[in-house]
Amino acid sequence: MSVTAIVGAQWGDEGKGKIIDELAARTDFVVRYQGGGNAGHRVVHGGREFAFHLVPAGILHPNVTCVIGNGVVVDPRGLLAELAMLREMGVGLDRFFISERAHVVMPYHFVLDRLEEESRGVEKIGTVMRGIGPAYVDKYARTGIRMADLLDADQFRAKLATALAQKNRMITQIYGQSPLSLEEIHTEYFGYAQQLRRFIADTEGMLQKAVADGRSILLEGAQGALLDVDFGTYPFVTASSTVAGNASTGAGLPLRGIRQVLGIYKAYITRVGSGPMPTELFNGEGDALREAGHEYGTTTGRPRRCGWFDAVSGRFVARLNGFDSIAVMKLDVLDTLPTLKICTSYRLGETALSVPPANLNDLAACEPVYEEWPGWQTPTSGAAGWDDLPENAHRYLRRIEELLETPLALVSVGPGRGETIHLRELNV
Ligand code: GDP
Ligand code: IMO
Ligand code: MG
Repeated sequence: MSVTAIVGAQWGDEGKGKIIDELAARTDFVVRYQGGGNAGHRVVHGGREFAFHLVPAGILHPNVTCVIGNGVVVDPRGLLAELAMLREMGVGLDRFFISERAHVVMPYHFVLDRLEEESRGVEKIGTVMRGIGPAYVDKYARTGIRMADLLDADQFRAKLATALAQKNRMITQIYGQSPLSLEEIHTEYFGYAQQLRRFIADTEGMLQKAVADGRSILLEGAQGALLDVDFGTYPFVTASSTVAGNASTGAGLPLRGIRQVLGIYKAYITRVGSGPMPTELFNGEGDALREAGHEYGTTTGRPRRCGWFDAVSGRFVARLNGFDSIAVMKLDVLDTLPTLKICTSYRLGETALSVPPANLNDLAACEPVYEEWPGWQTPTSGAAGWDDLPENAHRYLRRIEELLETPLALVSVGPGRGETIHLRELNV
């Protein structure tokens, strides 16, 4: 038996989808534990490319049961579109389930996400506009609507009436926009509930039984630890807890059931949206990484900000999550560079920092202190094993491993299945 949490270790888009698809070949369950349709996990499988927003990236394996856990916020319309796309591509949905406790992203959450972003002006977060922040606000304000509520027409109407009265006051009185219609929303979303009814289940019970039966489970994180609402670059973060500590709560599994935590890093770093990013590269250097790595958002198509590997935030995240091992993704993107840099500390005025400061102004003022490493200037994409990688790639990766104080388990050298070098047995 094993339960493995797979966690993004930077600002998202590290390549979690690829690793989950690959490891899912050996597991029984894949469970999303937080976030919502803001995630975009790309998987290249059987020569075809898939982009998952809500459905766990294990769905392409016919024997894997995929679960949207209670910690996720679900946009039913987006989910149905994703399921229709999968059906069209011949992917079976017999083993797909949604927690009855998962909260629903409602139309007013999308509206408020946009209006709140507009009102932030230059302080905007750069959200993906999928209603995620406002949906989590309602969850914690205890005005949220859950999947179980959506299935019960009367209960849904009562909860919707209460929530919508409040939201419409915000939409009209604060933002001067037109109110939304209760009848229209009720009809549309109760219709979605009927289409989703067969997938909605007691997934916590299902997973607890799976653990008791010794089945193997992957817990799929979305976003990354630097977007975590507690530990990320607040307020430029997402609205959920992305770290391994939340994997148990968001899936409904006992904490001690989680056997290992795998952290996913890119061999460099990217960020979409606003907020400080100490190792960001501008102009030609940043553009070159973006083009080589096709660094454009999976959900919004926005260009990703690109920078050198940041071992300061990287080690902070490794300790926070207690990573047992790490994967370094997209090594091949660095293949042509003559010199690589790794940030080993930040300089804030006269002070050297080895952990990111909590104060955002301080973080924004931090200058990266770099080590330089010679590049390998050889293609790595065909490498099947560690020994096939050039010596300078070994040195770069071993240095990252040393700075993160965590053993390297996987190195990815291409988007496809199999383009992964396994250094140690993960026992998933
Ligand atoms: P996620 O959100 O963490 O699942 O990551 P995304 O799917 O948003 O972004 C990662 C992108 O990099 C996807 O387009 C992957 O297909 C691609 N990718 C993953 N691993 C590699 C790799 O080792 N090399 C290259 N060149 N691309 C990769
Ligand atoms: P995956 O799972 C990268 C970013 C947004 C914005 C901030 C808050 O593909 O790694 P939100 O809509 O969540 O309120 O936006 O978080 N963001 C992501 N960046 N990858 C993601 O997911 C992201 N999900 C949200 O760009 O800066
Ligand atoms: Mg992504």
